[in-house]
Amino acid sequence: MGTPEIVLVRGDITDQHADAIVNAANSSLLGGGGVDGAILPHSLRRGRCPQRGGPEILAACRALRASHYGKGLAPGRAVATTAGRLHAEHVIHTVGPVFSREEDRSELLASCYRESLRVADEVGARTVAFPAISAGIYGWPMDDAARIAVETVRAADTDVEEVRFVLFDEAAHAAFAAQTG
Ligand code: APR
Repeated sequence: MGTPEIVLVRGDITDQHADAIVNAANSSLLGGGGVDGAILPHSLRRGRCPQRGGPEILAACRALRASHYGKGLAPGRAVATTAGRLHAEHVIHTVGPVFSREEDRSELLASCYRESLRVADEVGARTVAFPAISAGIYGWPMDDAARIAVETVRAADTDVEEVRFVLFDEAAHAAFAAQTG
């Protein structure tokens, strides 16, 4: 157990080769846009989807909904499924909090990283690729999302050896680089 090495990468998380790839999931676990849309087909959207993970991941998410997660996954929680056709063993789905100016949800966002690392330890993942959780559709300011992400990973005690933040654009990469020095 110890603190993982932090690596920053610019690119698409579905191109990553890692033991586990973290999905910025929807609480329904049934897909959406952004990272979720890149990994899973949206359960309600017919026809060709951009998703790269293949139908196996959605099938596994549906099985979770039919068993332990009947009401979906709460913000701050994490659960693993197969990685389907991605270059990984596992996808770890975690639901970020929607940003709010009225309510400080920082602890929920930190929990996404902490819980994802806990699940990574459970499945024996040593390299974990994370997106910038909540910093897209859920509206979290990128600088603060990066601060919470890096602080939480640095405080972690885990068997994960490498945490790779996969940043989709230059602004996100710069925000994380500012946190990692
Ligand atoms: N690879 C890496 N990063 C990506 C990718 C990708 N393929 N697609 C988007 N991103 C970036 C976004 O630019 C943002 O910086 O990931 C970060 C998180 O964005 P979202 O995927 O929108 O995640 P989030 O803000 O947590 O919102 C999740 O949106 O797509 C729905 O179903 C999803 O309801 C859930 C919500």
